[in-house]
Amino acid sequence: MCRFLVLAVTTAPSNRPETTLRTLLLVFLFVALNTAQQSTADEGPTVPENVAPHSPPAQPLPFSHKAHVATGLECQTCHTNPEPGSLMTFPPTEMCISCHVGTATDKTTIMNLQAYAESGQKIPWVRVYAITPGVTWSHKAHLVAGARCETCHGDISRIEAVSETTAILAMATCISCHETREAKTECVTCHAWPTDEFLGIK
Ligand code: HEC
Ligand code: HEC
Ligand code: HEC
Ligand code: HEC
Ligand code: HEC
Repeated sequence: MCRFLVLAVTTAPSNRPETTLRTLLLVFLFVALNTAQQSTADEGPTVPENVAPHSPPAQPLPFSHKAHVATGLECQTCHTNPEPGSLMTFPPTEMCISCHVGTATDKTTIMNLQAYAESGQKIPWVRVYAITPGVTWSHKAHLVAGARCETCHGDISRIEAVSETTAILAMATCISCHETREAKTECVTCHAWPTDEFLGIK
């Protein structure tokens, strides 16, 4: 808390009201978070629902997680976590075709899928959860620590079109869980700056 305020003071240029407002909002969030943390202790979900509106983006194909997970496919059959481990990636089109060569081939949606496969182009999926550039992130660290997909993304197996239903991209969410699970919370865990030297702590 203390460190955060130090930064808030040093990074808020008085001639840029929008930056100051943003910093104040962040400080407010941080205070609210600390208060919530004290009252809820270790109970309850660590990743809250997204309170902001979150309609699913228009996708190039109407891909349904509900229909596909119901066929028995595992999340990680389609979403692999290659080194260095930050990304979960999207499945190659050939993977889709392995089933759709014989399934529902008379439908326009499947014809479009086959057109992507034949052209050799990647399907241009529109991203739903994209972390703010510059923030240090790794799926691998979390999967190794035992975090489940549902904890951060909600119950994807029950929804047709994925939208940003959880507040996983907010800094308060990251820090709240890190505090509960006793993971690191120093700024440098997730930000290349500011270092403890910069803040004059070490
Ligand atoms: C601790 C929280 C957390 C857990 C657990 C988690 N994710 Fe994510 N996921 C995120 C965040 C944050 C992003 C945004 C990352 C980015 O922009 O690179 C993301 C992005 C994604 C993406 C978009 C592509 C990418 O890699 O950026 C996919 C797909 C995905 N997650 C699938 C999964 C699956 C499948 C699991 C379980 C095996 C899982 N996630 C577990 C937080 C999590
Ligand atoms: C395990 C086999 C399997 C794999 C792999 C698979 N699908 Fe499917 N897919 C199905 C089945 C079965 C249905 C029909 C489900 C239903 O109608 O309830 C379906 C339905 C669809 C539909 C809807 C068709 C329509 O208009 O009704 C689309 C689009 C689709 N899949 C795209 C994909 C994409 C994209 C991938 C790869 C990311 C993929 N599928 C991978 C089995 C598969
Ligand atoms: C048949 C392959 C397939 C399976 C199985 C599958 N997914 Fe996906 N997933 C996709 C495709 C294709 C997309 C991109 C289209 C979309 O956003 O719906 C996607 C998108 C996502 C996203 C949004 C990524 C982003 O930020 O843009 C998340 C999160 C995700 N999947 C998690 C899961 C989880 C959790 C499971 C298991 C419950 C799962 N997926 C099972 C194919 C699959
Ligand atoms: C569900 C709880 C949870 C959430 C939500 C979560 N984390 Fe974590 N995070 C952990 C745990 C547990 C570890 C592993 C700690 C360990 O291995 O000592 C970890 C580790 C990390 C690490 C690696 C730290 C190291 O040891 O070098 C980074 C970076 C990180 N998290 C960033 C984030 C970011 C950014 C977010 C928000 C987008 C986030 N985390 C959300 C629980 C969580
Ligand atoms: C566990 C990961 C994590 C830790 C620890 C963390 N942050 Fe963040 N921080 C984030 C994420 C994720 C965002 C992006 C939030 C968003 O876009 O809404 C962010 C955004 C910010 C921003 C806004 C940047 C911008 O361009 O909008 C500032 C300022 C910031 N953090 C400062 C700090 C300070 C100071 C500390 C140490 C007290 C800290 N953070 C610790 C994850 C973390």
